[in-house]
Amino acid sequence: MSKITAAITAVGGYVPDFVLTNKILETMVDTNDEWITARTGIKERRILKDKDKGTSFLAIEAAKDLLQKSKVDPKEIDLVILATATPDMLVAATGIYVATQIGAINAFSYDLMAACSGFLFGMSTAASYIESGKYKKVLLIGADKMSSILDYKDRTTCIIFGDGAGAVLFEPNKEGLGIQDEILKTDGNGRHSLKIDAGGSLLPSSKETIARNQHVVFQDGKTVFKFAVTRMADASEKILERNNLTGDDIEWLVPHQANNRIIDATSRRMNLPNEKVMKNIYKYGNTTSATLPLCLWDYEKKLKKGDKLVFAAFGGGFSWGAIYLTWAYDPK
Ligand code: UT7
Repeated sequence: MSKITAAITAVGGYVPDFVLTNKILETMVDTNDEWITARTGIKERRILKDKDKGTSFLAIEAAKDLLQKSKVDPKEIDLVILATATPDMLVAATGIYVATQIGAINAFSYDLMAACSGFLFGMSTAASYIESGKYKKVLLIGADKMSSILDYKDRTTCIIFGDGAGAVLFEPNKEGLGIQDEILKTDGNGRHSLKIDAGGSLLPSSKETIARNQHVVFQDGKTVFKFAVTRMADASEKILERNNLTGDDIEWLVPHQANNRIIDATSRRMNLPNEKVMKNIYKYGNTTSATLPLCLWDYEKKLKKGDKLVFAAFGGGFSWGAIYLTWAYDPK
């Protein structure tokens, strides 16, 4: 019996309407468009303004977009995995609510948390269910309402992140297309470089944690940058080597959109020209779990059956890695 591979067969996405530009940020914190553009490549990001909507709203919209485009019956979905760093609430997985809301009533569901590597790790998880032969349709969503955990007085973090969601469907493939190889890594020594201190079991919420402003993202940007720029490139280079590939063989790099300079360092190491690198950081910023599927959402029409893609990410934890995948369909 030939091996079952796990292929992406549909893509969806959603970003909220409100555009937070660098110019607007200049009126909120001591920053400027030139600094943000030169250091990160970001010009604007989308923000979910509605106070009564959480990450589930973004995830549901992205999933609905996928279902509407692909005409897949949600009742046929076996599993919904939601990669997120900003669940609606800590207990009662957000993915379960999302699955029910989109009509995936026969699916089971859960959340997967690995900061900016959540979607990359989720690809491996989703693919394993398919490769096992037990499940036929796995919906993987990456969604984050980063604006809910940012301090808009901290110029070192609030300029970087945005809100958004993307979704992909994994199905079995008989032609060997889909996920081919993966290198996934973590290092707990990075825990204190990118974190939210309070609100978990180690430091539960209290008047003091609120007074100390410990419920927002803290990032030691320089340290994270140093690790991200080497680790993401290392993993991407290694996955090429291991599969006897060079930059010439690869059609697309799908990189986590945290910083233009990190993306460029990775593509340089892979000997890839700019035209082969998916980039939307300038318009969405860093949407954490949503960066990779939002790249696919924006570039889907350019992808052809058999194209070789390398996905790469780096995030808090630390967590990072690269996945090599062959694309399974021509533009529809
Ligand atoms: O997705 C999860 C993983 N995260 C990442 O991969 C992010 C990795 N880190 C980075 O992308 C970069 O470190 C940042 C974009 C966060 C910062 O860029 P940087 O080039 O590392 O800047 P820096 O922190 O070294 O700061 C340089 C200067 C400092 O001023 P002095 O000390 O040189 O006078 C900062 O105070 O820039 C100042 N600065 C700003 N100036 C204007 C910091 N933030 C801002 C700002 N606007 N928003």
